Amino acid sequence: MAILSAGGSPENQLVLVFLTNRWGWRRGEVSRPERDYGSAAVADLEGVIVVEPLRLGVVGLGVMGAGHLEKERGLEEVRFVGVADVKPEVCARVSAQYDLPAYPSAEALIDSGRCEAVLVATPHPFHCPVAEYAASRGLHVLSEKPIAVTVGEADRMIDACRRAGVLLGVMFQQRTMPLYRKAKELLEGGVIGRVYRASLVASAWYRTQAYYDSGDWRGTWKGEGGGVIMNQAPHSLDLFVWLGGRPVEITASVETRWHRIEVEDTISALLKYGEGKSGYFYTTTSEWPGQNRFEFAGERGKLVVDDDRIRLYRMAKSLPEEIFSGPMWGKCAGAWEDVPYEPAPHGHAEVVKQFARAVRLGEPLVATGEDGRNALELANAMLLSGFRQKPVPVPVDRAEYDAFLAEKRGG
Ligand SMILES: NC(=O)c1ccc[n+]([C@@H]2O[C@H](COP(=O)([O-])OP(=O)(O)OC[C@H]3O[C@@H](n4cnc5c(N)ncnc54)[C@H](O)[C@@H]3O)[C@@H](O)[C@H]2O)c1
Repeated sequence: MAILSAGGSPENQLVLVFLTNRWGWRRGEVSRPERDYGSAAVADLEGVIVVEPLRLGVVGLGVMGAGHLEKERGLEEVRFVGVADVKPEVCARVSAQYDLPAYPSAEALIDSGRCEAVLVATPHPFHCPVAEYAASRGLHVLSEKPIAVTVGEADRMIDACRRAGVLLGVMFQQRTMPLYRKAKELLEGGVIGRVYRASLVASAWYRTQAYYDSGDWRGTWKGEGGGVIMNQAPHSLDLFVWLGGRPVEITASVETRWHRIEVEDTISALLKYGEGKSGYFYTTTSEWPGQNRFEFAGERGKLVVDDDRIRLYRMAKSLPEEIFSGPMWGKCAGAWEDVPYEPAPHGHAEVVKQFARAVRLGEPLVATGEDGRNALELANAMLLSGFRQKPVPVPVDRAEYDAFLAEKRGG
């Protein structure tokens, strides 16, 4: 027997079925209405709720906006209903390609009444105004990374969405990678005990000069509000905070190693977390071969995520025990092991799918506005520290950062 007969739902609607676990389906699984569960399963059917796909509009149709339409058009949880771009030729091309109504601005798309939510894929300075406008009209917002250019803007986006009672999600798709999910599970499970050092070398963001020359907003203070730390490294910063916590003070150095751009292409930073914990962060678009290497040193071992490999060192005793009981020149007992992880769906589509499920079913977002702001605190602190050559406390002083950026933008 098909669920369609029970729900009577038209095409394009989703059906939320509550099935008992002994049939092997997850409670609350979302399925196409026409899916056939067979008569045996229906005996265990607890209920059927009709859930429509989320009506989503896309603002900004460049590399990422068009990429979302291509990657996510097959999702059951969303239905794209309109597109907007300030460049008429881009808007017309993408609208024709995906057979979607075109709008000349974010405001026109939002006011069309077609969308319940918008995916904002404009250059970063427009994330905040578009999100604020969407929230003011009662639309949910999924923002591309970075959430905004300044932490002050991120505050405004979070406040606007909270006041309007809508969701604010951020496109941190790397969180969905099985590798990082496993690392998170291990760290949260306390496998290495209290972490006293966190470090990340994120140098796999190599970009050519042609990349920077491909858009006049790229690599500029006005267009991006920074370089590698504002465009490529937000993913790395998010993972670093998500896995290792938020520091309380940052001392950074910035440089433009190779590229002909006005902003930095390389950053190194020392991080203080309090309670004896310290950290190091490095990122660049100017290194080959690049690498992603996280290290978390804890009182009971060490966790290393090195590109696509997770290595775990388990200590026989805790570090304080070893230090205070071992003989002169003594070493600690323990062993390295490789940690396997299962493949699972991941990437941009997972974030969009989960965003729709958060709106419809109250499930958690992959990354919230607050998560986006946490990563941005680090980015802003590193730029302020590097250019002002001083330690910067986190959270960043909003007024000081705005003044710094205005100066850099020549305003
Ligand atoms: N999550 C990821 O993996 C990922 C990857 C690449 C880019 N991004 C992010 O996506 C955003 C866009 O980057 P991109 O590489 O697609 O840029 P892009 O230059 O290729 O495209 C941006 C588009 O936005 C349009 N636009 C500019 N201002 C607008 C406005 N006010 N309203 C409507 N449209 C506007 C432009 O005309 C352009 O077509 C950036 O914030 C970037 O950091 C995320």
